Amino acid sequence: MVEPILKWAGGKRQILHEIVALMPEDFRNRTFHEPFFGGGAVTFWMEPKKGTINDINPKLINFYVVVRDHVDELIEDAKRHKNEKEYFYKARAEFNEIVRNGFEIPNIRLASLLLYLNKTAFNGLYRENRKGEFNVPFGRYKNPKIVYEDRLKRASEVLRNLDIYNEDFTYILRVAKPGDLVYFDPPYHPVSETASFTSYSKEDFSKKDQERLRDVCLELHEKGVYFILSNSYVKPVRELYEGIGGFEILKIYAKRPINSKADRRGEMPEMLVTNVPIELRVGREKARLIVNNGRSRTLVASKSLVEYLTVAERST
Ligand SMILES: C[S@@+](CC[C@H](N)C(=O)[O-])C[C@H]1O[C@@H](n2cnc3c(N)ncnc32)[C@H](O)[C@@H]1O
Repeated sequence: MVEPILKWAGGKRQILHEIVALMPEDFRNRTFHEPFFGGGAVTFWMEPKKGTINDINPKLINFYVVVRDHVDELIEDAKRHKNEKEYFYKARAEFNEIVRNGFEIPNIRLASLLLYLNKTAFNGLYRENRKGEFNVPFGRYKNPKIVYEDRLKRASEVLRNLDIYNEDFTYILRVAKPGDLVYFDPPYHPVSETASFTSYSKEDFSKKDQERLRDVCLELHEKGVYFILSNSYVKPVRELYEGIGGFEILKIYAKRPINSKADRRGEMPEMLVTNVPIELRVGREKARLIVNNGRSRTLVASKSLVEYLTVAERST
């Protein structure tokens, strides 16, 4: 179990046990794929021995390639950053300049800047404008820890077992073999007309993309690949998966902060879809035990972080 190394909107920590409950019991012996990697909470928790990760965002993927292949150089560079307003805006400009000029993966400096901005920007959010520039203001945190050296090294070890892709999620059709396990965490369909999408990258995830993803799930199912998918529990997405033989739709509740200013409070339904047969699954009781085992304190701490990010997303 490795802690995720970036704060990423849509982190899956608070529903991790629900996801694990659906996995086949022998999940540790299976090849695992996470095609919408983001912060990669499931992969880092699971530490697969074999598999792939993917994200369409090249800056994010550059970061993980650098963590995997150049972790010492990354740590050395990142240790020099300062949590000061003026420095932050210079670093942000440098980050956007590297992106504007085009970069090749691996780019250690870009990864170091992404790590720094992720820890010091407002709400620790990663957000881009239409031009693909990072545009989050300085976060004014008192003393944010930027370099978690041990965590980065542990993450590096986990990533060394995995192939890293920077493509559309359909790459999975090329790489997944029968018996593999895939966890899909696409950008969620908005909960209401007024709730906006989180802009993870220049391209938003459209209804058409949600349909393409359903078609990918159908193809994987035919091939004998197991998948688990999460999304918001809303009719337009639910309808895509209803009535398909071998698919099960589950409604789960993710806790939201009660004392927040968000208009939606309390428990929000989310949807999980899977084709893992019920008799193979870990089950909820055992999943709670494995996920909480020896780390209840970190869970509590990171839970509030995830919830906070969710509120921040909603209010924009
Ligand atoms: C909800 S986030 C994943 C959160 C992650 N599971 C975690 O725990 O932090 C969705 C991710 O999908 C990526 N993405 C968006 N469109 C994509 C596409 N067409 N193919 C692959 N990845 C995509 C985004 O860049 C973003 O990082």
